[in-house]
Amino acid sequence: MDRKLSKVEISGIEAYIYDELMMLITGFTYHGFIKRAIKDMDIKENDSVVDFGSGTAKNICLMTNYTKNTIVGLDKGKEMLIKSKNRCKDFKNVKIFYHDIREKTPFMEEFDKAFISFVLHGFIDKDRDKIIQNAYDVLKPDGSFFILDYNEFNLDSKNPMVKAIFKYGECPLASEFIGIDLKEKLKQFGFKTFSEKYYYSNLVRLLIANK
Ligand SMILES: C[S@@+](CC[C@H](N)C(=O)[O-])C[C@H]1O[C@@H](n2cnc3c(N)ncnc32)[C@H](O)[C@@H]1O
Repeated sequence: MDRKLSKVEISGIEAYIYDELMMLITGFTYHGFIKRAIKDMDIKENDSVVDFGSGTAKNICLMTNYTKNTIVGLDKGKEMLIKSKNRCKDFKNVKIFYHDIREKTPFMEEFDKAFISFVLHGFIDKDRDKIIQNAYDVLKPDGSFFILDYNEFNLDSKNPMVKAIFKYGECPLASEFIGIDLKEKLKQFGFKTFSEKYYYSNLVRLLIANK
């Protein structure tokens, strides 16, 4: 993926210190935010979960507080895989695999919940479609897809700080992503009902799409 266009492929030292970077960027609010977002997923004790682009597995570790069933993490970043596998080695119900999330997964209608956090914005639209289709296919008939990412908004109406984040800190694909009607897109893949939770003054959204 072109580094000028997308910033979701994270490697080297940046991958190893990703969680700490997030804490710094968010003024040390990231941990509390992500804890709340995972709680908002309402994961039940027997829910199986798959995380697309699982990164350091910080989110997966939080999910283990809610379910004893299988949690699968999929990522293709070398350093992210080393870090996440090491972090999860004591959780018997967690499995982390190398997988390009644009490719079909080996799973079919097996999961209660699919999760993707700060990954979808960094893909060209054709690849976003592939990822959404893959998430749809891995979910059980009554499963739900949880997309934690930037909300939809008009950047022109935001304050200079938010504008600067998108101009200097984020990739051009993120600016395009905030203009997409994601619920309309998800409907085209068969998702039927939706609910939403918001964070950081509505700049971030957990969109819950039900099959
Ligand atoms: C911004 S990080 C987010 C990590 C994690 N979801 C989180 O919220 O902490 C993006 C992640 O997506 C992974 N990634 C990027 N492109 C991918 C692809 N094509 N297939 C699988 N993982 C990918 C990166 O390796 C990285 O771990």
